[in-house]
Amino acid sequence: MTAAILPFAAQPPGFEWFDDEPVFDPAVHLQLEAPELIRTLDEFGYTEDEVACTASPVAATSAFRMLSAEGAAVMLAVARRLESFAEANPRIERSVRSGCHRSRWLRDLCISPEVTEHLCSIYSVDVAPHPITSQLGHLNYAPAEVGTAVDKWHHDTLALDYVMMVADPIVLDGGDFEYFVGTKAEVATFADRGERPPADRCVSVQWPGAGFAVALHGNMVVHRGGPLHQAGERISMVNGYITTDVRVDDQTRNVDLFHVDEPVTLAREWARYAAWRSRRRLDVLIEDFDRADAVADPIEAAQRLAHATHDVDVAIADLRRTDRPEIHHYEHAHSPDA
Ligand SMILES: [Fe+2]
Repeated sequence: MTAAILPFAAQPPGFEWFDDEPVFDPAVHLQLEAPELIRTLDEFGYTEDEVACTASPVAATSAFRMLSAEGAAVMLAVARRLESFAEANPRIERSVRSGCHRSRWLRDLCISPEVTEHLCSIYSVDVAPHPITSQLGHLNYAPAEVGTAVDKWHHDTLALDYVMMVADPIVLDGGDFEYFVGTKAEVATFADRGERPPADRCVSVQWPGAGFAVALHGNMVVHRGGPLHQAGERISMVNGYITTDVRVDDQTRNVDLFHVDEPVTLAREWARYAAWRSRRRLDVLIEDFDRADAVADPIEAAQRLAHATHDVDVAIADLRRTDRPEIHHYEHAHSPDA
């Protein structure tokens, strides 16, 4: 069974645990079922080369059950309780980050080895819960105003995640979870023309109920939470994963997280994660170069070292930045109703 690659990080200052929650019990709260449909990145138009450096060939799944009825009821209660911490950011009107440092139940769901194992089988690769804890258990709530999208068209700041409906999606009028069957480059072209992805190339996920999720290759599949047509309780939860194979790209835009996360905690957890990736890559390099038949010319050896320390180099450069680049999404000011 896949374990977390790093221990769950320490609770940041100013956070307190809810002290009267049920204990997360996988036997009671989970009901893991396989998705009927798993779409792959090549169906979306990505080339073999583009897919090769990503975490998984999987793009998106149909909705599958993750929580039992009892688990879904606890999840909804936890999400409603966390709603008082909701904040706005440049992409989402109301979201809660780092709920896993307030709710042990949410934390234990998000790092559950049973769920992780289930996602390994869906993604066809070994995955682990994201070591940056704000990337776990992210909650989105419906905007105050009907007709405003829950979240703009975007791709995620991390490679792999699932999106779970927390409040019953059946009773909602609107608030669809939609993804575009195409590449990020295509959406960027539409956005430059002030257009959104065409509806006939978008899929609106069919949700059988609360506690169901879709697994996504979040930073390769452009998606959004659409607007509600009538006021209603719409809550979704997004939980992030990484591949444990450090040979592929990290695919993250951690620098965007300064818009949504507390900087001191983010810096600590990002530095720790980058150090883990580079350490693993350096270990692989040592093993490779220790082999009796290992050959590397000076340029190749330098490239291997640069590859190994790449994530640390990016972290050093980005953590030293004093500007804060705009959080990325595909809806510019000139979009029709952005
Ligand atoms: Fe997203």
